[in-house]
Amino acid sequence: MARRPDRSDRALGIRASRCVAAKTLDLPGPNAAHAQDYQPTPPEILDDMMVDLDVAFERYAFVDLGAGKGRVLCLAEAWPFAGIIGVELSPALVREAEENLAAYRGRIVQADAATFALPATPLVLFLYNPFGAPVVRAVLDNLERSLETNPRDVRLLYFEPVHDAVLRERWWIEPEQAAPRWTRYRARLM
Ligand SMILES: C[S@@+](CC[C@H](N)C(=O)[O-])C[C@H]1O[C@@H](n2cnc3c(N)ncnc32)[C@H](O)[C@@H]1O
Repeated sequence: MARRPDRSDRALGIRASRCVAAKTLDLPGPNAAHAQDYQPTPPEILDDMMVDLDVAFERYAFVDLGAGKGRVLCLAEAWPFAGIIGVELSPALVREAEENLAAYRGRIVQADAATFALPATPLVLFLYNPFGAPVVRAVLDNLERSLETNPRDVRLLYFEPVHDAVLRERWWIEPEQAAPRWTRYRARLM
């Protein structure tokens, strides 16, 4: 029998609430072993992270690194971002996200967040504890190269920031705001 969507999914007209263990996902590539399970972000958490984010949204792309079934991409439409992109390693979750995004303007890409070519615009990067420390480091190396090529403002929203210490290793990343379950950082190589 089909499972009834939870209240957040019903409000968005999507199906994203069911969690999926990473070990059942047949993930491709060298970073598969570092992937966390799929779990969706509660809408009130994203609202809380965004409320004091004072940027000109029209100039920024929103990128969810480890986007799962795409719930955060649907929620991000509440702000006038220039673009909304999800990056997800699991082909099966990408297919579910594509169905969820059918009525939304966000798009999802099947790729490893560690090697994804980031848009050259200012960025709001979102992470919900998607992967282990080696992949967080690779993502930061990728971001640093991107910032060297295209210096611009980048904000990182990290929900359940298990690897906060890894971000703080970088001189060009500074924490801006923190709450019990998340931290927001600013990345600048200028
Ligand atoms: C905790 S879920 C978060 C889902 C979504 N961001 C949300 O908040 O609703 C983490 C997701 O990261 C994905 N993931 C893990 N490693 C990844 C990688 N190297 N590149 C892209 N996605 C990855 C997992 O498959 C999983 O769907």
